[in-house]
Amino acid sequence: MRVRVFRDAAHLAESAADEIAAWLRVDSDRPTIGLAGGRTPQATYERLRSIRLPWDDIHIWMTDERFVPPDHAESNARMAREALVDHVPAVFHPVPHRPDDPAGSAAAYEEELARFLPIGPGGIQPGLVLLGVGEDGHTASLFPGSEALDVDRRGYVANWAGGLGWRLTSTMSLLSSARRTMFIVSGAGKAPIVADILGDDSSDHPAALVSEAARDAVWLLDRDAAAGLSFD
Ligand code: 6PG
Repeated sequence: MRVRVFRDAAHLAESAADEIAAWLRVDSDRPTIGLAGGRTPQATYERLRSIRLPWDDIHIWMTDERFVPPDHAESNARMAREALVDHVPAVFHPVPHRPDDPAGSAAAYEEELARFLPIGPGGIQPGLVLLGVGEDGHTASLFPGSEALDVDRRGYVANWAGGLGWRLTSTMSLLSSARRTMFIVSGAGKAPIVADILGDDSSDHPAALVSEAARDAVWLLDRDAAAGLSFD
């Protein structure tokens, strides 16, 4: 696992976009990227859209989604469209929204993922996945104590997130099969959870479990988010 710390959020976004672009240039003959939702990665996506890449060959999907219509203010796909997807000719795969059927929406998406993500011996094998971290240690929509954390024979499921309602999320199984996992974390509010996760090998926060299981995990942090870490 690699940890890189940048002086501020702007430098983090610029460096993350450059590292993503470098990966997409060499990933494979069919580069894919799973986007994180939330606010943190927006600046990275806005930087990424100005970088010259073989966008026509690149498939973009969502590592998780809120169970809302695609034009809803809370939709991760809407954020991704506004920040990146509407500005590049990549192939975008938003999570389908079947009203009143979160499980069916997730199952339909898992079938779609299998149609364009490479398939390895263990099933679907994403290339690069981007993830954020919540202050409670969740990543994607794998929240502490939620049922999806224990799902091992599916790649994408509906997950009840309490007050946040239904979420649609990659499972541990799907995320851990990715060839590269990139966490992008910014801000002083995340410093305690980042210190918990990166400072304690026994952390059982969902983001820690995903990072631990990853084939190749990299954490990109700004100084504020890294404030609780000690580097020897
Ligand atoms: C989501 C994200 C979620 C996010 C974290 C951090 O749907 O919200 O996928 O996992 O990455 O909650 O969110 P912020 O970047 O907004 O702090």
